[in-house]
Amino acid sequence: MLRGWRGYATKPFYITTPIFYVNAKPHLGHLYSMLMADTRHRWARLTGPSFMLTGTDEHGLKIQTVAESKGIDPKLLCDQVSQNFRDLATKLNVDYSRFIRTTDPDHIQAVTHFWQTVADKGWLYQGQHAGWYSVSDETFFPETQIEQGPDGTMISKETRNPVIYQEETNWFFKLGAFQQQLIDHLEAHPEFIVPESKYTQILRELKSEKLEDLSVSRPASRLKWGIPVPGDPTQKIYVWFDALVNYITACGYPNLGSTGAQWPATHIVGKDIVRFHTIYWPIFLMAANVPLPNQVVVHAHWLSEGFKMSKSLGNVVDPIDTYEYYGEDSLRLFLTEYTNIDADSNFSEQAFVDTRDMLIGKYANLITRVGGKKFDIAASVNDFADGKFDDIESRIGARSPERAEEIITLSNELRQSVDSLYEAMDPHMTSFNPKRALHEWWQVLDRANLLFQLGEPWAIKDDATLKNYYTFMAAETGRVASLVVTPIIPRLAGAMLDRLAVTSRDIGAAKFGGDLGFGAGANNPKLHPLPIVRVPKRESQETQ
Ligand code: ME8
Ligand code: MG
Repeated sequence: MLRGWRGYATKPFYITTPIFYVNAKPHLGHLYSMLMADTRHRWARLTGPSFMLTGTDEHGLKIQTVAESKGIDPKLLCDQVSQNFRDLATKLNVDYSRFIRTTDPDHIQAVTHFWQTVADKGWLYQGQHAGWYSVSDETFFPETQIEQGPDGTMISKETRNPVIYQEETNWFFKLGAFQQQLIDHLEAHPEFIVPESKYTQILRELKSEKLEDLSVSRPASRLKWGIPVPGDPTQKIYVWFDALVNYITACGYPNLGSTGAQWPATHIVGKDIVRFHTIYWPIFLMAANVPLPNQVVVHAHWLSEGFKMSKSLGNVVDPIDTYEYYGEDSLRLFLTEYTNIDADSNFSEQAFVDTRDMLIGKYANLITRVGGKKFDIAASVNDFADGKFDDIESRIGARSPERAEEIITLSNELRQSVDSLYEAMDPHMTSFNPKRALHEWWQVLDRANLLFQLGEPWAIKDDATLKNYYTFMAAETGRVASLVVTPIIPRLAGAMLDRLAVTSRDIGAAKFGGDLGFGAGANNPKLHPLPIVRVPKRESQETQ
């Protein structure tokens, strides 16, 4: 098997996104988390099996409140809005393995079993709870984290969302009992939370503040839309306790390993929900005696034109509208490239359009130029296979004496960087730094474009071998660059491989000279129109 030489992974990779609340329509940030997971999932799949989980978080007061205000049944609301998230994934070619909903019967069973297990082990107790609850954040805030807002009502200092004082009987989880165990785990696994800044922050917090026990149920009289507490019909399970379990539901919990998803997972989450994933979730798992996740990857937020997106500022970037105007590839590329998980990213329409133009100008155009009628890709591949380029330096010297040295050096660099492109991108892709991976990719394309420019193969009339050499270098770069960029822009990369008449799409072929059979019929542009075209920058978004 071709793949063997790169080491075919047998243990499936398992990656998750947060499951999204269905109280509002999908946001650019939701798409971003999905894409981060999808590109990593597709990258893993180049060399082995992988499972990607995404979905919707459907219980809780937040959804209940929206359903009540609209006067519709909460399940009906969930069905509608959940479908919007599924559609977003489909439109943007997010190739999830399962779309989970917390209203799915197997999830309700898993949560019930998880609760029962933790209760049987003695980690839950009943008590009185009084505190400030934020419905938007679905969380209680301690007295020290609230303040009076501009209109006099109480709000959370951190999220600025309104909080209401509630006194009730709840089930409590003995969070504090696991504090030292979690610190030990973090110290033994410094890669458990990335980026490092978040690891340091959480570890410091755990070492300096005592964890308070956590309320994990709400009175059924208040929270109607939730999973019942086993054995206590007066209480419903707290929405975060319910939601987090989704990650093991997909693995068949309590029968882990009975589905295609192999626990433990790599979790992708936004910085807004870091504590739920790096403190509560690992502790719940310890209490239930389930292994901890492999890693929690925390990404920063997207801003729009420099500000947090908000309806009142009129700067909300709607992922679906953006996709409909500009198409899938440029949106996937921009969200993947213009980010840095450590710092907030800015969606600027101009930077987006510039990236889109670069994709067309440097990538698609290279392939369509060499796929023009003047050239013959299939013949160039044959020449390469027959060793006809072995004396290419003398041909270059004969045609372009003054620039021969420059062209030969560039040729060698190009050949070498095409050959090692996958290896150059791999460490960046697997460490969630696709921007650096794409930097390597663009460099290879820049070299190929420059070589084509310097070689001027369209003007060569008297040396068919030399003309084929330049044809081959451009086509070969296009082929390998397309294979390795498939996880990021699957549609366009696939169209480009079609354009080049490439049949071997295995990543093992992503080597210089790794496919001696492509290009047949590729120089008939009528068969394959360019699958992406320039469009003007869209009119201002102000109307949204
Ligand atoms: O918190 N930039 O759901 P949610 C980047 N249901 N990412 C963003 C973003 C932005 N501006 N806005 C949202 C919940 N996100 C819970 C999760 S998991 C067991 C339960 C992304 O609909 C980011 O991933 O509020 C963030 O963590 C998530 O959406 C929050 O989605
Ligand atoms: Mg949120």
